[in-house]
Amino acid sequence: MPSQRELFYQHLAQTTPFPLALEIERAEGIYLYGKAGEKYMDLISGIAVSNVGHCNPEVVKAIREQSEKYLHLMVYGEYVQTPQVELATLLCSVLPEKLNSVYFTNSGAEAIEGAMKLAKRFTGRTEIIAFKDAYHGSTQGALSIMGNEKLKQAYRPLLPDVIIADTNSLPVITEKTACVIIETIQGEAGVREFSTAFLQSLRKRCDETGTLLILDEIQCAFGRTGKLFAFEHYGIEPDILCLAKSLGGGMPLGAFVAPQEIMQSFTHNPMLGHITTFGGHPVCCAAGLAALKFLLREKHLIEEATQKGELIKQLLSHPAIKEVRGKGLLLAAEFESFEFNKAVIDRCIQQGVITDWFLFCDNSMRIAPPLIITTAEIMKACDVILNVIASIAKQSHN
Ligand SMILES: Cc1ncc(COP(=O)(O)O)c(C=O)c1O
Repeated sequence: MPSQRELFYQHLAQTTPFPLALEIERAEGIYLYGKAGEKYMDLISGIAVSNVGHCNPEVVKAIREQSEKYLHLMVYGEYVQTPQVELATLLCSVLPEKLNSVYFTNSGAEAIEGAMKLAKRFTGRTEIIAFKDAYHGSTQGALSIMGNEKLKQAYRPLLPDVIIADTNSLPVITEKTACVIIETIQGEAGVREFSTAFLQSLRKRCDETGTLLILDEIQCAFGRTGKLFAFEHYGIEPDILCLAKSLGGGMPLGAFVAPQEIMQSFTHNPMLGHITTFGGHPVCCAAGLAALKFLLREKHLIEEATQKGELIKQLLSHPAIKEVRGKGLLLAAEFESFEFNKAVIDRCIQQGVITDWFLFCDNSMRIAPPLIITTAEIMKACDVILNVIASIAKQSHN
């Protein structure tokens, strides 16, 4: 009888030659539990998904209750489904007033596709400006605006009329530009922040040219940076906001949110501007609603993300760490090389602490735990990381 791991290699499509292949039996809070009794601290939240913790009891209850009422009923947008209506209403109530219309999708990439299509439809323009080292997803539209050639070149030709701009100067935005799309804080670039002045200049230039500003907060929203939405740090508001990852509380769910007057471009000439069968699945929306209610009630978790992040920065002090950067609990610890980083990550996993590197920044370690992590757990995790760094540094000096 082949083992689960053997069957995994045999029958599941692989995305790298060296998947982690951890066998996880259950998950709770910040912990994942392996088959042979292993206990791992998840310091990456399944890549910024489990902000309210794995299997948050309120999310699980909502899933159970909704699954007993109905699952899929109809393609997106036709029936009035309570979980969709309630989640959209709650989301709009915590967003700037103009962002009052939510389109639910299956994933982050689909939210990005929808947002780009909407910008083209509303403005009647085709030019899209994105940024170096941006990651917006892996579908062909999202790949077109990826700010890294290595992962996209095999798929060319991609969308025409895309400009990948440098992050250190304001791009040329004109009356031909449909939209500028930017991660409020870049994730896969290795947690790179833009200055407030830069983001405000983008906003101003978009206003001057009738260009839509799309903020991708798929990785950085829902309390992770110490505010419910990261744009709140910078005094700007998007025309279209893209969400996913932690939106579903652990279930697959994405959304793009825009003013109704923009969103209604999808409904005529021709109608059905974006179509999705499963987008806004009722069980996922019920889970997302429970997760958002939890976060809004336990607001202290959002405020504490800042202090917790500062504590991690303070604790992770070692000559091998060049810097720990980021906001709140969206952090990157940078080492000299990928090899050193990978050795630390691998050994941390052996010692029960899961971290990761970034797609476009392989010398930096991702630290983005669930927001429910406690101070004691942070101290314990940092202790493991520091001991591992010390032993690898010692090894590489010998
Ligand atoms: C900033 C950002 N945008 C978009 C995406 C794509 O989301 P998904 O993987 O759900 O398609 C990701 C995923 O990592 C992301 O980090």
